[in-house]
Amino acid sequence: MRMVDIIHKKRNGSELTKEEIYFFIDGYTKGDIPDYQASALMMAICFQGMVPRETALLTKAMVDSGETIDLSRIKGHKVDKHSTGGVGDKVTFIVGPLVASAGVPVAKMSGRGLGHTGGTIDKLESIEGFNIELTKEQFIDNVNKYKLSVAGQTGNLAPADKKLYALRDVTATVESIPLIAGSIMSKKLASGADSIVLDVKTGSGAFMKTLEDSESLAKEMVAIGNRLGKKTIAIISDMNQPLGFEVGNANEIKEAAAILQGAKIHDLRTLSLEIAAHMTVLAGAFSDYKKAYETLEQNLENGKAFESFRQFVIAQGGNIEVIDDVDKLPQAAYHIDVKAEMDGYVSEIDAESIGAAAMYLGAGRATKEDHINHAVGITLNKKIGDQVKKGDVLVTLHAARENSENSIQKVKEAYHFSRNQVKQPVLIHKVIK
Ligand code: URA
Repeated sequence: MRMVDIIHKKRNGSELTKEEIYFFIDGYTKGDIPDYQASALMMAICFQGMVPRETALLTKAMVDSGETIDLSRIKGHKVDKHSTGGVGDKVTFIVGPLVASAGVPVAKMSGRGLGHTGGTIDKLESIEGFNIELTKEQFIDNVNKYKLSVAGQTGNLAPADKKLYALRDVTATVESIPLIAGSIMSKKLASGADSIVLDVKTGSGAFMKTLEDSESLAKEMVAIGNRLGKKTIAIISDMNQPLGFEVGNANEIKEAAAILQGAKIHDLRTLSLEIAAHMTVLAGAFSDYKKAYETLEQNLENGKAFESFRQFVIAQGGNIEVIDDVDKLPQAAYHIDVKAEMDGYVSEIDAESIGAAAMYLGAGRATKEDHINHAVGITLNKKIGDQVKKGDVLVTLHAARENSENSIQKVKEAYHFSRNQVKQPVLIHKVIK
């Protein structure tokens, strides 16, 4: 078999066989196929696409290129969730304990963030002492005991994707639905859960800006999961503004803890309940979605979900005092208010600009080597639809420096106003099963 023939075949719009896809992925992972041929194939896929059978094979070949986490020692049906990424997305810290509070095991591998704010692991590390470097045994034992554990991504999961993603990034071949779907799903499938709930974000702050593209991606990922034997559903949720009111690391832990203690922050609470309810239904803990949602809602009110979170923090070495009293989480030195310069209604809050403002404060990384400052972040005071008067505080920046001009500028760019009343955006656009 020759790589040039595979490129030629795809360039002309034909379907690749299983043997051809494995030949490419194995050869590229081992270094036998050079970057220029891999780039040419990626570009051909961008133009010609892939049918669902090919996308599933590509994904499976990427899973098979490395290690798969064996979760068989965990009792029960393991469910995982994945978000395509958004600003202020602290849903994992709410959904994990919620699902655990219903007795369903959640064994989650997470990564660090690049850009915007930190990743799941960075945010958890704002809890003093919290340890994400667990051995496989500790990880599995914690899930068996407490139904929830989150560990840093270890081992060699989907190395083909790692190499290909880096290549796509510099060859203008990221934006292809089958390639994105395969890339995300290969990592999820290698993480070993039995079922997966995907939170596909849509809107100005999302990877996919239009509902149409988000829906295509969601459908493709659901099809891959189901073809490869994992029950998978996708929720398409709005990212036309940050989720909740807090953006940063300690800030987001603080807001998640508030929701787990019953706070009624509408978008964050509703989305978390929706994702958690679907996860528990997929795991078979409830026969229907409505029953699951109601029970989980009660678990937010009766303290069960918060207790699951506390146990999870203690089990991973976190200082529980900073959760019981969130004012003990890292605190920034300066608090800078950014005020409205006109009267009106908030019509848009560009989440990417808010993410960039948080990154300039030090809440995220511009390069892999950058250090995260867990204390800094942003509190939004106004969201879409809110009425504002000139001089009202739009956001408060929690900063390490008195001079945070870059971040102030980004916040000002993020907010748009209308003279007329504005409706709140729809939160959950669709559920794809
Ligand atoms: N995220 C991924 O993991 N892969 C892609 O291709 C795009 C976004």
